[in-house]
Formats: sequence, C-alpha cells, structure tokens
Amino acid sequence: MSGVLVIYHSRTGNTAKMAEAVAEGARSAGAQVVVKRAAETNLDDLKSADGIIIGSPTYYGLMAAEIKQLFDGSSDVRGQLENKVGAAFTSSASIEGGNQTTLLSILQAMLIHAMIVAGDPMDTGGHYGVISIGEPKKETLESCKLLGARVADLAKRLAR
Ligand SMILES: Cc1cc2nc3c(=O)[nH]c(=O)nc-3n(C[C@H](O)[C@H](O)[C@H](O)COP(=O)(O)O)c2cc1C
Repeated sequence: MSGVLVIYHSRTGNTAKMAEAVAEGARSAGAQVVVKRAAETNLDDLKSADGIIIGSPTYYGLMAAEIKQLFDGSSDVRGQLENKVGAAFTSSASIEGGNQTTLLSILQAMLIHAMIVAGDPMDTGGHYGVISIGEPKKETLESCKLLGARVADLAKRLAR
C-alpha cells in the first residue's frame, strides 16, 4: 500500500474542498492518505510519503506563502524526496488569474526535488493539475478525485 500526503493552504475553503476530494480519490485507489495544512506539515511527513499532492490558492499567479515556506524549509531534505510522485491543484478567482503559473510554480519545486510529476492524462482536463475557479463545482471535484487516484496508483507502482 502506498502513502499519499495531501498538503494544502486555504483561507476561504475552496482549496480545502479540493484537498478533501483529492484525498477521497487517493483512498479509493487503495492508498493510505494523510491530509494536512501546509503550516502543520513537517519534513518527516514529506519523507514518509510515496506521493505528495499540493494544493494552493492562486496568489498573484503563484503558490501561497505558506506553501512556499514549506518548500523553502524542505531544502534540508533535498535528495530524500527523489522519485516520489508529485501533483498539484489550485483555486483562483478568475480564469485568467494565473492559475496555471501557480500549478507550475509548485511542480517546478517538486522537479527540483527530483520528484516525478504526474501530467494530465486528459481525464482531469487541467494540463498541469486541477484548477477551480472559485468554489469547486461537482465536475472539478470529480477531477480532483481522479488526480488523487492517479497519484496513488503511480506511487504504488514506484514505491520500493
Ligand atoms: C492575497 C491574494 C492574492 C490573490 N491573487 C489572485 C490571483 O493572482 N489570481 C486570481 O485569479 N485570484 C487571486 N486571488 C483569489 C484566490 O485565489 C481565490 O479566492 C481562491 O479561490 C481562494 O482559495 P481558498 O478559498 O482556498 O482560500 C487572490 C486572493 C488573495 C487573498
């Protein structure tokens, strides 16, 4: 069984709802799932997961400071997250509000950790991860579940 860690930041609840759906999808694929706010996540949590899925509201077209802070602190475990499966999701206010650059900012940090980033197999529709505009709609939550299940499956295949 693989372990999937879903990390998120959320002020007004939109990204939190996405995180719960991502976790549900990963659980449905047989993973042991932990959901944590970024501010409550420590380096041992990162090290012990096989898959790490991170969700952030879009802030100025980038990840929120709370997520960046977690990444900044994670330089202490550089090399220890190698080959873990990573993916991202975001909530933004507007469709042109920089949601894709937010996803890429998260995926970029994961790549620097030598994680294996899961692309979009066309069923989630987000190219770089799942995006919600405002409160997640039913279809967006379905995409979140698919993303969680996909990462859980990939992590199981790669877990040693
Ligand atoms: C500091 C700040 C910066 C934001 N920057 C953007 C932005 O660049 N583009 C955008 O579309 N929405 C922006 N928003 C709106 C949030 O991304 C949006 O409301 C999101 O759904 C909030 O997620 P949450 O409910 O999980 O907190 C910003 C909100 C805040 C508070």
